[in-house]
Amino acid sequence: MFDSAPLPPITRTSKIFVLTGAGISAESGLSTFRDSGGIWEQHKIEDIATPEAFERDPLKVWHFYKERRRNIRSAVPNPAHYALAKLEKNLPVENFTLVTQNVDNLHRLAGSQNPYHMHGELSKLRCVDCHTVTENLEDFKGLPFCRCNGLLRPHVVWFNEMPFYLDVILDRLHECDIFVAVGTSGQVYPAAGFAGRAKSRGATTIGINTESPANMEYYDYFFKEKASVALPMLIEKWIVDIKKGT
Ligand code: OAD
Repeated sequence: MFDSAPLPPITRTSKIFVLTGAGISAESGLSTFRDSGGIWEQHKIEDIATPEAFERDPLKVWHFYKERRRNIRSAVPNPAHYALAKLEKNLPVENFTLVTQNVDNLHRLAGSQNPYHMHGELSKLRCVDCHTVTENLEDFKGLPFCRCNGLLRPHVVWFNEMPFYLDVILDRLHECDIFVAVGTSGQVYPAAGFAGRAKSRGATTIGINTESPANMEYYDYFFKEKASVALPMLIEKWIVDIKKGT
């Protein structure tokens, strides 16, 4: 795969930033958003993924998220998730950053220690009144309520809301040497702008996707391949580089 496009070698001192999107979990059986048959083809964003939708009809919104919570309960990580956890183990903690737009828990299940879930996590709920976040993937009937009696909402980022961890994510992005985006369509900002930002600050940018993303122009290297194939190959190569250099 890399013969036609030899990649720069890395060392233990290279700072690597990885951004993942729905495509990395597609091979674990979880739907993407914008592929044919994807989530946004079956549901209207304004009905289930905005703060206004939740105020209008919390049961309808929870119906959608309960279904997605059920789906992730049975999903297991695939080789792409495991490869990222392996890369993390081979680098000093300060030189590896994993940011995901995904709300599933597959990076953690694969062994990643600190994935930044910039769009939140389906396994967590947040009180609309006291803002307490609780972790709980169990099923429940009707609407869930906090100990303070406030309504609980999914701890996910809806449209028109700010992503989580943006300060630390941008700090890490601005200092990275290598930026890798996997399985993301490059259509939702701010994540869609990360490749351009990293490139403008001198990082080498790599994209892995089964289709061309909308921000294709910002990738120095692009591998049109499934995440579960390309990522383990790339990471095995890098681990050889790291071991040679130590
Ligand atoms: P999308 O559904 O927009 O894009 C998924 C991408 O994965 C597409 O570009 C596919 O070509 C690619 N893909 C599919 N299968 C793949 C595979 N096996 N290997 C590699 N690539 C594959 O999902 P995201 O870009 O993650 O936000 O969407 C970004 C955000 O939009 C989501 O986090 C969500 C959504 O609205 C919120 O809900 C706030």
